[in-house]
Amino acid sequence: MRIAINTGGGDAPGLNAVIRAAVVTARRKGWDVVGIRRGYGGLFKAGGVVSLDERSVRGITHIGGTILGTSNRGSPFSFPVEQPDGSVRMVDRSDEVIDRMKELEIGCLIAVGGDGSLRIARELAAKGLNVIGVPKTIDNDLEGTLFTFGFHTAVQTATDAIDKLHSTAEAHQRVMVVELMGRHTGWIALFAGYAATADAILIPEIPYDVARVADKIRSRWARGREFAIVVVAEGAIPAGGEASYLDKPALGGGLRLGGAAKRIARRIEELTGHETRSLVLGHLQRGGRPIAFDRILALRFGTAAVELAEQGRFGCMVALDAPAVRAVPLGAAVDSLKRVPVDGDMVLASRALGISFGD
Ligand code: F6P
Repeated sequence: MRIAINTGGGDAPGLNAVIRAAVVTARRKGWDVVGIRRGYGGLFKAGGVVSLDERSVRGITHIGGTILGTSNRGSPFSFPVEQPDGSVRMVDRSDEVIDRMKELEIGCLIAVGGDGSLRIARELAAKGLNVIGVPKTIDNDLEGTLFTFGFHTAVQTATDAIDKLHSTAEAHQRVMVVELMGRHTGWIALFAGYAATADAILIPEIPYDVARVADKIRSRWARGREFAIVVVAEGAIPAGGEASYLDKPALGGGLRLGGAAKRIARRIEELTGHETRSLVLGHLQRGGRPIAFDRILALRFGTAAVELAEQGRFGCMVALDAPAVRAVPLGAAVDSLKRVPVDGDMVLASRALGISFGD
């Protein structure tokens, strides 16, 4: 048996742990493993497919990023190809992927990715490729699994940052508004805001009214707590309004979320008269060493993916169905977004502590 592994979409802490576990587990079965560099891009480039053995994955469990590189601009169904005149045209190269895999005698592709990469994996499976998915994203927005790996490290990074904001907010009697990642879901904001005792947490699942947030801040000042921390998910939506987006990227591609914290901070300052600062934690949330929880989950996922390949259970994704790791159909992960349940335990527990959701 020869298997291939690739990592696609935004990086997440724990990718290297998945790669190591998959390679070591497969090698112990006597299998060959190759890595495809930079998503699917490596299939179309000389040197883009590399052989992986125990030596190539030594000492990488704790390292962030991915030794294979990644890309969130390289779907084989719409792949950027430079034309003779220098312009770029999007081309469907999915048939070439299937042919290359045959040429390389790959029995199974282990695709490690978020919703975009797993959707590609599902489409390739429909074209006859043997694929097994591994759910990765700091956003934790994939259905079918309780947690994705990378999420808890991002939450830890955000929690540490909010802890630091507390001391400066208190020293200056300021409101600090911090914007966290998560795309159209509020998992990171909810978990980090709860862990770091934010005063308000604004998430896309609960449209906010900034006047309610201002009420919460005023009530703190009235009680002599003259500072406040507001955590805003990048996809947060004002009631009756829209999420905040950055300008169109110069290199093309879809619109990116951004600006939510700045917009809210300005309104809070106007409404409360308290000095308010905003910051965006950004890609720091994706970087660095995976915490132990994510390493363990990623290692388990890597091994489980190889076991599924051995059983011939293609078209599946490994998933955490706590306490077990199981297989779910790829479709279960990508057909819809896993959003924070607005009446779920974490939201209710936050409300019980007086945290405002701006509603
Ligand atoms: O999906 C992971 C994520 O970090 C999101 O939280 C964020 O919106 C997006 O990727 C940012 O993507 P990029 O790396 O293209 O800036």
